[in-house]
Amino acid sequence: MNNKYYITTPIYYPSGKLHIGHVYTTVAADAVARFRRIMGDEVFFLTGTDEHGQKIQRKAQEAGKGPKEYVDEIVEGIVDLWDVLNISYDKFIRTTDNYHVSAVQNIVQQLYDNEDIYKSEYEGWYCTPCETFWTKTQLGEKSVCPDCNRPVEKAKEESYFFKMSKYQDRLVEYIENNPDFIQPTSRRNEMLAFIKAGLEDLCISRTTFDWGIKVPFDEKHVVYVWLDALSNYITALGYPEKTGLYEKFWPANVHLVGKDIVRFHTVIWPTILMALDLPLPKQVFAHGWLLLDGGKMSKSRGNVVDPVILAKKYGVDAVRYFVLREIPFGQDGNFSNELMINRINFDLANDLGNLVSRTVAMVEKYFAGAVSGGQQEEEVDKDLKALAVETNEISSDEINKLMLSNALADIWKFISRTNKYIDETAPWVLAKDEGKKERLAQVLYNLCESIRLIAAYIQPFMPETASKIHQQIGTENTDRTWKEGGKFTVKKGEALFPRIDLKKELDELESITL
Ligand code: ME8
Ligand code: MG
Repeated sequence: MNNKYYITTPIYYPSGKLHIGHVYTTVAADAVARFRRIMGDEVFFLTGTDEHGQKIQRKAQEAGKGPKEYVDEIVEGIVDLWDVLNISYDKFIRTTDNYHVSAVQNIVQQLYDNEDIYKSEYEGWYCTPCETFWTKTQLGEKSVCPDCNRPVEKAKEESYFFKMSKYQDRLVEYIENNPDFIQPTSRRNEMLAFIKAGLEDLCISRTTFDWGIKVPFDEKHVVYVWLDALSNYITALGYPEKTGLYEKFWPANVHLVGKDIVRFHTVIWPTILMALDLPLPKQVFAHGWLLLDGGKMSKSRGNVVDPVILAKKYGVDAVRYFVLREIPFGQDGNFSNELMINRINFDLANDLGNLVSRTVAMVEKYFAGAVSGGQQEEEVDKDLKALAVETNEISSDEINKLMLSNALADIWKFISRTNKYIDETAPWVLAKDEGKKERLAQVLYNLCESIRLIAAYIQPFMPETASKIHQQIGTENTDRTWKEGGKFTVKKGEALFPRIDLKKELDELESITL
C-alpha cells in the first residue's frame, strides 16, 4: 500500500482572466488528487503558471507594464481562483521562479553538451497565441494556424534546434508498446499518425524578443517557451537534483491536459526526456473542451463565464460539479448559464438537496432527531444496499480511469435510487401506525446511511457539500462501506443548494454582461 501518485495540470498562461472552461483541468486534477489521498496514496499535485514568451511580452506591452509586473498581478488572481475553488495542490510553480530558471538552463546545457542541440536559422511561420512553429506544408493554403485558425507571422531568425527527428523511431516504439501512455485511444492514434508522418528538428530558442530564460551558452537567445514550460514537471520536483521529491515522484502518473496541447506533451516532452535519459511520464491524458454555443469560450453577451462570479452566486461546489459532469470522457461539453442553472436545479437542489432535507426533517419529526439501525429489515432494503456497495466499486473504477463525468453519473444514479426508496417505503404512512415504529426507524436509518455514503462518494468532487451533509446527519465518518447498527443524530441546516428561478436569474446574468 501507500502508493505514490504524482498528478499535474498544465501551467496556465497568465495572459488574462481564466474562464469557466479553463478551470476544468484543475478541478478534475483536484478531484482525482483528493480521491487518491482518501484511498491512502501519497499524492503530489502540481499546478502553476507559464509566464514567459512572446505572447505574454506583447500583452504586457499592450497593458503598458513590464512583463514581470504584468504577470505578477494576474498570477495573484489565479492563486486566488484556486483558493476559491478549493484546489488542494501541493505545489504551485511559476516559471519565473529562480530555481526553475536555473534548472531549465541546466537542461539546455545538457542537451547542448550531448550534441542534441545545434545552431542554424529558423525560417517559417509562428503562431504567437499558441506559441507554435509551423512549416509551409503544415499551414496549407491559408496563412492561419492549423490549431486555432488565427493569423500566423513569418519568422526568420538565428535559432538553436533540438534534434527531435533523431528520436522519432524510439517515440513510435514507446507509444506502440505502452498503450496507456496517451489516452484516450483516439488521441493516441492521432499522435501516432502525426509522428509517423515525420518529425522535424525543433526550434528551441528565439532572438527577436527577450522575455524568457536565457540560453546559458548564448545569451542573446531565450529558450522557446514550450521547452521552458514542459520542464516544470521535473523542475518542480527539484530536478536536476535527483533526490527528494524527484526520486519519490518521477515519473509522473499522469499529466492531465486539454486536447489542444496533447502534441506538445506527447512529442516534444517525451523526446526531451529521452535526450536527458530520464523516464517518461506514465500517462498523458487529454480531456475535451467546454464550449460556448458550440464554439470557443470568450467573453460573450448574455453568458457570464467568470468562475469567481459563478462560484459566488451558486457556490463553489456547483461550479466544480458542473464542469466535471458536463465534459464527458474524451469529448467536449457545452456551457451556458441556462445549462448550469438547470444542472443546479435538477441534480443539486432537487435530487441531492431534497433527499438530505426531507430525510433530516423526518428524523426530527418522528424521532426527535436520533435514529439507530439494526431494527426491522425488509426485502426492499436489499436493493438499496446492493446499489450502495456497487456504486462505490463502479465510481471508484471510473475515477481511476479518469472518467469523472461517468463517476458522477453513477453516484447520481444511487441518489435517485435513494429518493425512490422514500417513495417505496412511504415513511409518512408508517408514522401513522404505532406498531410500525421499528420499521420506520430502520427506513430512516437506511436513508441516513445512504446519505452518509453519498457524502463519502462526492467528497473528492464536492468537499464543501460533503462536510455540510456531515453536519446535518451528525457524522464525520467517510468510510465507504455500509454500516448496519450505527446511530445518527441529525440537525437541520440550510438548504444545500437553494432552487434558482431560471428566468429571473438569466435576466440578472445578462445585466452583468451588458
Ligand atoms: O496551454 N475547456 O496554457 P493555457 C476546457 N501554458 N479546457 C480548456 C478550455 C476550455 N474551453 N480552454 C482552455 C497552455 N482549456 C500552456 C500549457 S503546460 C506545460 C503549458 C485548458 O492557459 C487547455 O486545454 O492556454 C489547457 O489544458 C489549460 O486550459 C491551460 O491553457
Ligand atoms: Mg491555450
